[in-house]
Amino acid sequence: MPTSSADQAPVATHARSALSIRGVTAGYGDAAIVHDVDVEVRHGQVVAVVGPNGAGKSTLLKAILGIARWMGGRVELNGKDVTGLPLQQLARLGIGYVPQIEDVFEALRVRENLDMGGYLFSHRERAVRMEKALDFFPQLRSKLNRFVETLSGGERKMTAIARVLMLDPAVLLLDEPTAGLSPELSRAVLEEQIKALGEHGKAVLLVEQKAVAALGIADWAYMMVQGRVVMSARGVDVLGNPEMREIFLGAKGPEDRTA
Ligand SMILES: Nc1ncnc2c1ncn2[C@@H]1O[C@H](COP(=O)(O)OP(=O)(O)O)[C@@H](O)[C@H]1O
Ligand SMILES: [Mg+2]
Repeated sequence: MPTSSADQAPVATHARSALSIRGVTAGYGDAAIVHDVDVEVRHGQVVAVVGPNGAGKSTLLKAILGIARWMGGRVELNGKDVTGLPLQQLARLGIGYVPQIEDVFEALRVRENLDMGGYLFSHRERAVRMEKALDFFPQLRSKLNRFVETLSGGERKMTAIARVLMLDPAVLLLDEPTAGLSPELSRAVLEEQIKALGEHGKAVLLVEQKAVAALGIADWAYMMVQGRVVMSARGVDVLGNPEMREIFLGAKGPEDRTA
């Protein structure tokens, strides 16, 4: 069996693992919210974490970044232990994070947001990186001088992701990038831009409540309920599993609950 196949269990080999989360328990104060979670993302994969509101999806991302309280487990980036490193250092090592809210500077122009994303680099290097980031989001090219607060929800989210791309991260942690977008726009962002990030070799860990759309593009998916992973499988296999559809997507059909 080829080890590079995306349809194989990500845990089968760690050879090309970008991000490996093992046995992570985390929460806030004394309360554990996420329990003993294992997640693996390989280079070039989009891996989705889906589950109901309050399942602990955002807390999992925040745990990786040291924003939630770490209670146990290990995080590896390209096979190297990065557990407990400060956010700034994780960013330098190649982990980019786009939070659900407060992901852009609204009062600044698109260009200024991207510039800030590349603050570590020289003016010249920033220009090169901005070109690369804009290749993912060509719609932003004509909007570089617009203030973010005047953009549509979709353009605003593209700005947020493009800003993080300025660091050229190997791994992208995206917390509900389609929150607040229409079902149509959500689908477009996932199927076009987010999928393209994977196709360009990024390892994308995508947290989504719009489960159907996310599973449709995910190479691999984890289902979280009450802080635990209850199933992991290929996205399409989750979609095709009647029991999973019933439990996670709603008996009346997925579109009712996830649009
Ligand atoms: N800062 C916080 N302090 C205490 N509890 C929190 C905090 N943030 C989230 N929680 C709790 O953690 C649980 C999981 O939340 P979250 O990770 O945001 O879920 P999801 O992203 O899956 O909707 C919820 O019960 C929520 O109330
Ligand atoms: Mg959340």
